[in-house]
Amino acid sequence: MPSEGSCTVIVGCQWGDEGKGKIVDVLAEGVDIVARYQGGANAGHTVHVGDAEFVLHQIPSGVLHEGKRCLLGNGVVLDIRQFFEEYDALLTRGIELEGRVGVSRRAQLLMPYHRLLDKAVEDAAATKIGTTGRGIGPAYEDKAGRRGVRVADLANSDRLAKRISAARERIGGRLDQLGASAPDGLNQAMQEALGLGERLLSIATDTGPEIINALAAGENVLLEGAQGTALDLDHGTYPFVTSSNTTAASAATGTGIGPTAIDAVVGVVKAYTTRVGEGPLPTAFSQEMDERVRILGGEFGATTGRPRRCGWFDSVLARHAARVNGLTGLAVTKLDVLDTLTSLKVATAYRMPDGSVTESFPADTWSLSSVEPIYETLPGWESPTGNVRRLEDLPRNARAYLDRVQELSEAPARWVSVGTKRSQIIPIF
Ligand code: IMP
Ligand code: MG
Repeated sequence: MPSEGSCTVIVGCQWGDEGKGKIVDVLAEGVDIVARYQGGANAGHTVHVGDAEFVLHQIPSGVLHEGKRCLLGNGVVLDIRQFFEEYDALLTRGIELEGRVGVSRRAQLLMPYHRLLDKAVEDAAATKIGTTGRGIGPAYEDKAGRRGVRVADLANSDRLAKRISAARERIGGRLDQLGASAPDGLNQAMQEALGLGERLLSIATDTGPEIINALAAGENVLLEGAQGTALDLDHGTYPFVTSSNTTAASAATGTGIGPTAIDAVVGVVKAYTTRVGEGPLPTAFSQEMDERVRILGGEFGATTGRPRRCGWFDSVLARHAARVNGLTGLAVTKLDVLDTLTSLKVATAYRMPDGSVTESFPADTWSLSSVEPIYETLPGWESPTGNVRRLEDLPRNARAYLDRVQELSEAPARWVSVGTKRSQIIPIF
């Protein structure tokens, strides 16, 4: 049965931090439901409303629009304490949440011991991933290992106690092996988390039927991705990735709807590239440019505060993202950050270590570390764009840059952002 309302997925096309939060915030205006489908508190979505800045980690960015329903799907790993900290902080700032937030009964619980293990594994690892330390990897390991604890388990205290104590025993063993130990505060942290179980159950839901019913009733839905395509567990720069599928297909499995319910997929790309954490960044800037753009773009992690590495726009990655996600449109963000550059480079292909040239994103992450990007150079526009509100008012060279970005990405640009405010996101018709 064809659905009436429309269902749009928003995905990151690079290594996260593309500005998905602000695109979701703007698109949320026209929808009824916004749902997260993967990841957890590793995400950091920054949204500006008026002069206020909000950084959201688990609650969808649509929450800043009055009356919109916000869901966390089965694909997320939910840190209960952090979730309610964020929830209560929104209440304190005057955001009305009654009846607006729902969490899937099938979502996995991320427990305090997952965080401990995340840090211990990173500390001991020969090949560091540079995780956010939020426990994401260990929580998804428990999920795939069929050892996880889900929201629904909170309703049965005997079963919950058994599963938690088994998990703790196993994790205690792994911490011992790694030469780490559980700190004294762990019991208290566990009690605090589980003490919030009733409160969480009071907002538990089945996200799949909710979304399908809403679509059938003519409501519109936005599915909000976290991280980016190059951090996808299968399609990213493995093993320097996160532990979930960040790409668009995951929006179906991560909320409990079928892929045919999805009508559109919007890929968010920054007008340049950034990466936080370990792993290759083929188009990395020279040191001087790196520092310059990091300051211009405020490129410091919203979750961890770490400086992000910066580089030129990489169309090899953007095309990979267009295919893997089946993009129907692009949102190009932070164009204004490039306003002062005299010329810009865009990578069109990679020269591989064996001398061959490829236009598609290599599977071998180690060869990706030593590819030499082949660049095209475009003239800069050297004038401020932050006040531009219509595509036709962008400087000619800025439009030419934008045209080249969408052409090489093989997806049409539907929005371009020239600043952090809602009014600075220009729709392209
Ligand atoms: P984890 O997701 O904490 O396990 O981290 C795995 C990798 O993904 C690390 O390189 C992180 O820096 C990166 N990462 C995770 N979440 C985000 C995000 O929201 N933005 C950017 N990078 C992220
Ligand atoms: Mg972020």
